[in-house]
Amino acid sequence: TDALTILGLESSCDDTGAAVVRQAGGARPEILSNVVAGQGALHAAFGGVVPEIAARAHVEKLDHCVERALHEAGLRLREVDAIAVTAGPGLIGGVLAGVMCAKGLAAAAVKPLVGVNHLAGHALTPRLTDALPFPYLMLLVSGGHCQFLVVRAPDRFERLGGTIDDAPGEAFDKTAKLLGLPQPGGPSVEQAAARGDPARFAFPRPLLDRAGCDMSFSGLKTALLRARDGLVAAQGGLTEGDRADLCAGFQAAVCDVLAEKTRRALARAGTPALAVAGGVAANGAVRAALEEAAAGVRFIAPPAALCTDNAAMIAWAGLEAYRAGRVDDMGLPARPRWPL
Ligand code: KG4
Ligand code: ZN
Repeated sequence: TDALTILGLESSCDDTGAAVVRQAGGARPEILSNVVAGQGALHAAFGGVVPEIAARAHVEKLDHCVERALHEAGLRLREVDAIAVTAGPGLIGGVLAGVMCAKGLAAAAVKPLVGVNHLAGHALTPRLTDALPFPYLMLLVSGGHCQFLVVRAPDRFERLGGTIDDAPGEAFDKTAKLLGLPQPGGPSVEQAAARGDPARFAFPRPLLDRAGCDMSFSGLKTALLRARDGLVAAQGGLTEGDRADLCAGFQAAVCDVLAEKTRRALARAGTPALAVAGGVAANGAVRAALEEAAAGVRFIAPPAALCTDNAAMIAWAGLEAYRAGRVDDMGLPARPRWPL
């Protein structure tokens, strides 16, 4: 098989990314560049991502990210074999900005265009970092998603279950907001939890009593809100220690639910490996809990920078699709919803 070099673009949420990934024949893929421009500061005042602001920022940043990604890879646009882009699911304005940019580049350089599902990008990341063979069980845990997938081929995913309400990342973000910690909530809650006592507050472990791999995280948020309000009513506010204990209790509950459901999903999938991806997989406690749940099978957690949104995973998923003969034309749509 030939060497392939793919330029990938990502703009489905609040990170603008461009990256170049190359794979020579059956060799290990190489990330030649992976540029991510976050928008944290733009959305900070609003306590969450504002879609319209995100879309405008993507439009402004995409060209510059592409230029930097090509420059860092030491390549010209004409030297890449194809252009891959997140075509959904995500915030429609951002996805549109990326798809339009990719179409422009593909037309200008006369290159094939490959539309990539953002979730497939996350789910195929362990093959980029660890040459993991199919099939494997993937736990995708991010700000918008939480599901178990048996990954059988670059375009064959079997869903075993997932959240019936909030995604864990969303729960981390809301927890941070409730406690007055900075966004994105995942890293700030993890930091606070490291100094806290996970046993002080007894948070629920929703759906553990129910068979199957479905999960629920919205009740956890409600329990946290109650505990916070109880403390505020009793003592007029929260101390640093209270915040740390609340974060530790919350994080421990998330870890327990994810770990137990992962054991069940592994038993059902029967795959020789478990891999994780998505922003929440950057959490050290979550990783440790999942590694323990994966006793007896191979466990793969890509580096944190490749777990959160990035364009290298899109370039890689595009490379896998392109190798399998898949290309799109200028009619490629931007899809806000696109189940795997
Ligand atoms: O995959 P991602 O970058 O974007 C999508 O949702 O697709 O994930 C972002 C989510 C946010 O909710 C963020 O708070 C969470 O991942 N996250 C974390 C950590 N780092 C990021 N959650 C828990 N612990 C972390 N260290
Ligand atoms: Zn994502």
